[in-house]
Formats: sequence, structure tokens, C-alpha cells
Amino acid sequence: MYNPYDHYFQKAKEQGYKARSAFKLEEIQEKFHLLDKNIKTVVDIGCAPGSWMQYTSNLLQKRRKDYQIVGFDIKDVEISIPNTKTYRQDVTDHEAMKKLLDENKIQKIDFIQSDMAPNTIGTKEIDAMRSFALLEETLRIYETMLKPEGKFVTKLFMGPGFDEYLMRLKKHFGGKNIKTFKPQSCRKESKEIYVIKI
Ligand SMILES: C[S@@+](CC[C@H](N)C(=O)[O-])C[C@H]1O[C@@H](n2cnc3c(N)ncnc32)[C@H](O)[C@@H]1O
Repeated sequence: MYNPYDHYFQKAKEQGYKARSAFKLEEIQEKFHLLDKNIKTVVDIGCAPGSWMQYTSNLLQKRRKDYQIVGFDIKDVEISIPNTKTYRQDVTDHEAMKKLLDENKIQKIDFIQSDMAPNTIGTKEIDAMRSFALLEETLRIYETMLKPEGKFVTKLFMGPGFDEYLMRLKKHFGGKNIKTFKPQSCRKESKEIYVIKI
């Protein structure tokens, strides 16, 4: 039974995170070690309320002082995080995104983190299709702005078409570089899964 006030909710509260999602990124980091000392420029797609940026900033602070995080969401983001700027921005608007990245002097990105989710309705076919459509709209950022050695983590929903979509990412980024992972902190009943470029 879905309980919004579960163990991870309490843990997030205790550790000062805006959302329990922080622990999904923590599990991904513990397994894949994506955020290493080479990561300087981070873009967070669908960043509200901000727990992934909190986690990433906490971690990068220990590695280097000159890191930069820029986050985008269609909702307001009311949080202050070191070395982090946020914008209320629909990430499917390519021109506006390009302009904001330019303003932040971002030509190439070391790490893209996206926990973006469409409005899910609980019907797996529709939720999966909507999540592919949303990623499709942002894929240009991954394909053109990620450094060749750059990394990403992006959320998708399992459903019809998932394997084809994964193949597409593997084709572009190299089969051995693309992994999938479902953190334990994801709700059991959730169809979400994370696709990772190492
Ligand atoms: C699960 S939340 C992200 C949680 C975040 N990672 C955190 O740790 O706080 C998904 C977010 O994606 C955002 N989103 C959905 N569609 C978007 C779009 N087209 N452009 C920007 N953000 C979008 C939603 O507004 C929502 O805040």
C-alpha cells in the first residue's frame, strides 16, 4: 500500500532534503560513481523541488570549488543551494533553453541529471508514452551538449516501446555505456526506471 510518509520521507526530512527522490540519486551514485572529480558543469532537467540538486551540490563541494549547477522546471523552485541557479522554464522550448545555457556560459555539459516526469495517470502504456515523448523533446540537449565523456541519468517509465527507446540511446551513446537501474527507494508499484550513461 502506497504510504507517502514512509521511511524515505522521514529520512529526507531528517537530512534536510526537499524530497525523498534524493535517495534514488544517492543509490545511483553509490552504484555507478557518476559524480567524480571531473564533473564541473551539471544541468538538472525537471529539478523541482530540488533534492537532486541538493545531493549533487553536497557531493561536488567535497570534490572541487568551481562546480556549477543549473536547474530547470516548469514549477517555481524555491531553494537556495551553493553554486546553483534555477529557472522556471519548460525544457522542451529549445530556444529558451539554449539562451539560458548561453547566459550561464554553458557550451558543453559534464553531467545531465533528469528526474523529469510527465503527469502520470497510472496507466502504464500512457505514462510510458508520455515519458518517452518528454525525453524525446529534450534529447537534443543530451546529443548536442553533453561532452563525449559526459554522463547522464534520466528517468523513464517502463512500458510498451521501452526496449526500442533504450536501443536508440545505446545506438547514439554506445551500447556498453548505457545501463538501467531501479533504486530500492523507488516505490515498488512504480514503473519508473533510470537510464544511465556511464
Ligand atoms: C519527480 S519531479 C523531480 C524531483 C527532483 N529531482 C527532486 O529531487 O526534487 C519531476 C519534475 O519534472 C517537472 N517537469 C515535467 N515536465 C517538465 C517540462 N516540460 N519542463 C520542465 N520541467 C518539467 C515537474 O514539474 C516536476 O517538478
